[in-house]
Amino acid sequence: MLDVRSLVKCYSSVPAVDNVNFAIHPGQVLGYLGPNGSGKSTTVKIITGLMEPTRGQVLFQGCNIREDLASYKRVIGYVPEEANLYPFLSGLEYLELVGRLRDLPGPLLTKRAGSLLQLFSMHPHRHTAISAYSKGMRQRILLISALIHNPDLLIFDEPLSGLDVTSALIFRKLVDGLSREGKMIFYCSHVLEVVEKVCTHVTILQKGKQLACGTIDDLRSFQAMPSLEAVFSHLVQEVDTEESAQAIVDAVIST
Ligand SMILES: Nc1ncnc2c1ncn2[C@@H]1O[C@H](COP(=O)(O)OP(=O)(O)OP(=O)(O)O)[C@@H](O)[C@H]1O
Ligand SMILES: [Mg+2]
Repeated sequence: MLDVRSLVKCYSSVPAVDNVNFAIHPGQVLGYLGPNGSGKSTTVKIITGLMEPTRGQVLFQGCNIREDLASYKRVIGYVPEEANLYPFLSGLEYLELVGRLRDLPGPLLTKRAGSLLQLFSMHPHRHTAISAYSKGMRQRILLISALIHNPDLLIFDEPLSGLDVTSALIFRKLVDGLSREGKMIFYCSHVLEVVEKVCTHVTILQKGKQLACGTIDDLRSFQAMPSLEAVFSHLVQEVDTEESAQAIVDAVIST
């Protein structure tokens, strides 16, 4: 189980993450929602061990992740919001590097890389340099590299970014399948209709503070709203979207 307790992160005097608490049990998929700048990626950087919190703790299977980050990193898979893939490596070389860093035995690494490249339609491109990949091809390599060591916890920050329709549909079903296998999944996204379909639980953040946390059904019935989108708009939306759009059009055409 991943247990996040009283998490606070301050870059300046205003906290970017302000007393956030949640838990993810095996088989659960937590949707992590919030407007731009609400603290989602900051939370991701803390729960992946890339950044230290100002206060609070992240416990994995009861242990503080910062006590043994190397072991923790071997049991998590992470798809970042913005990837730094080595452009001069081929897709296969990158997966081999990741697999070795995660101590995957050679034969198993070769087998998994081969089958995942096939399944993500990347096999024909495996020897091509990453610099020549399209955005969606890079994203597929990132997804494979997050899965290749069969991690217990998956952390996705906008994982559908750049994926085409078919790959996105496969990914949604993949999240279902992984949760049925007992994986814990943290799913950070703005795409509410996908979150509503794939997540068992949801947390909504605004300006670093947790506005709501529970199952999707809990939130819908608590707020007496028909959809997650309606709940989100009710809790978070600060502007009249139609008015804002018209104001932008007016500004663009103004002389
Ligand atoms: N390295 C940093 N240094 C200073 N401030 C930062 C840094 N990273 C993020 N912030 C600030 O922290 C706040 C939360 O940023 P964060 O990237 O976590 O938001 P987010 O919810 O992921 O947004 P988005 O939906 O745009 O990806 C923002 O006000 C941002 O400006
Ligand atoms: Mg972000």
